[in-house]
Amino acid sequence: MQLDRLLQSQGFGSRKECRQLVRNGWLTINGERIEDPFLEVEPAGLRFEVDDEPWEYREKAYLMVNKPEGYECSRDPMFNKGVFALLPEPLVERGVQPVGRLDSDTTGLLLMSDDGQFIHALTSPKRKVPKTYRVGLKHAADAAFTQKLLDGVWLNDETEATQAAGAELVEPTVLLLTITEGKYHQVKRMVAAAGNRVEALCRVAVGGLALPDDLPEGEWRWLGEAELAAIQG
Ligand code: URA
Repeated sequence: MQLDRLLQSQGFGSRKECRQLVRNGWLTINGERIEDPFLEVEPAGLRFEVDDEPWEYREKAYLMVNKPEGYECSRDPMFNKGVFALLPEPLVERGVQPVGRLDSDTTGLLLMSDDGQFIHALTSPKRKVPKTYRVGLKHAADAAFTQKLLDGVWLNDETEATQAAGAELVEPTVLLLTITEGKYHQVKRMVAAAGNRVEALCRVAVGGLALPDDLPEGEWRWLGEAELAAIQG
């Protein structure tokens, strides 16, 4: 692939901007400055640096973010910052999107990708991908409360009861709740319908992928092969 085309595919700007980037001497491959934007390179596994920042060619981008409170999952945030502010510019430029949305006051595991099929597969209601939330409750709860969630609760405008795929109290006011749909404000509405109130909400797993302990809030990282497989089940 021609270098200018490769850089464009990775989010470094238009073809013209990428040519200029190379001509300006901002690109190195294996430490060697390359100034020919038309150089043919093998993209698979290519590692390069732009402005001393290391990158690896990726046909598609798959990443996870540990979302902090106060960020909206939108390109045009209304009241807060957008999660895109947590990513380097090339990832935003190449069009990564959140895989489903978290409320601005929800924290935790947010997947992002520019692979439309991947996003669709994970968000399609038919696929029933489990998502687990650690829920801080206003009132101490008991087994009758978790049983209500497992049996199913009625949400406004729904024609059938919505059941939790898992509900376990780890403390009287801390619930681990697993759902397989992605309805609007689903966890908050389910907890309210069961007679309690969400005070804090953190997504701790999607599919078989748990939020890693070593990813600080506000940070992102690429997903590895094993993690991608774990999500898709
Ligand atoms: N359910 C909610 O109520 N909010 C979220 O952000 C995610 C699930």
